Amino acid sequence: MKKITIAIDGYSSCGKSTMAKQLAKSIGYIYVDSGAMYRAVTLLALRHRLFTHEGQLDTDALKRMLSKTDISFRLNTETGAPETYLNGENVEKEIRTMEVSSHVSVVAALPFVREYLVKRQQRMGQEKGIIMDGRDIGTTVFPDAELKVFVTASPEIRARRRYDELKAKGQEVSMEEILLNVKERDYIDSHREVSPLRQADDAVVLDNSLLSREEQLVWLQNLYAERAGE
Ligand code: CDP
Repeated sequence: MKKITIAIDGYSSCGKSTMAKQLAKSIGYIYVDSGAMYRAVTLLALRHRLFTHEGQLDTDALKRMLSKTDISFRLNTETGAPETYLNGENVEKEIRTMEVSSHVSVVAALPFVREYLVKRQQRMGQEKGIIMDGRDIGTTVFPDAELKVFVTASPEIRARRRYDELKAKGQEVSMEEILLNVKERDYIDSHREVSPLRQADDAVVLDNSLLSREEQLVWLQNLYAERAGE
């Protein structure tokens, strides 16, 4: 098998990261959650109170801060899963809160944030053997990826999955709030000027509304074997 690059893009909460993680584990590839990087920048902005009450962001201050910021991933040896670090601090849990979710798409629409993170993502993928998930991986980060998947499912199903996930982590959330957030992020992500969320022309589309985790893994493994086979 040759080493390839795998890009998984799609709407919010459609199970991209579950799929990507499962596949990475089963074929020994590196998994990178690009959304976690946008979330970490958002957490940085929130912690420094760069948002006003009306939701306006002090972009100049964020730009200055970003040049001194380090975002990285380290493997949790107990769970075997990568976790996100912001300036050396483990922020994996904090970046998944509703507060971060409701500010992240505004931060991710800023051209200087995208430029900064895309460069880092491309560096991580230099050696191939990588699976990255996000919104613009197949279109902007790795336009030459050998395998591109675009995942989708109905907003209601996605909101239900996110609800179950946050509840299981003990977070207090309502279904209405999550459904609204899912729809809002999809809208901002698809309509921003720089690298909007869209399906790459050569991506394979997967609507996983009715698939179990096991079924989608098998589907993905077959595609991988086809593309990586020599
Ligand atoms: O909640 P979900 O797992 O679907 O989202 P995520 O992958 O954690 O990404 C959070 C947010 O980051 C998205 O809603 C986008 O606004 C932004 N993002 C992006 O713009 N480009 C990427 N490659 C990945 C995420």
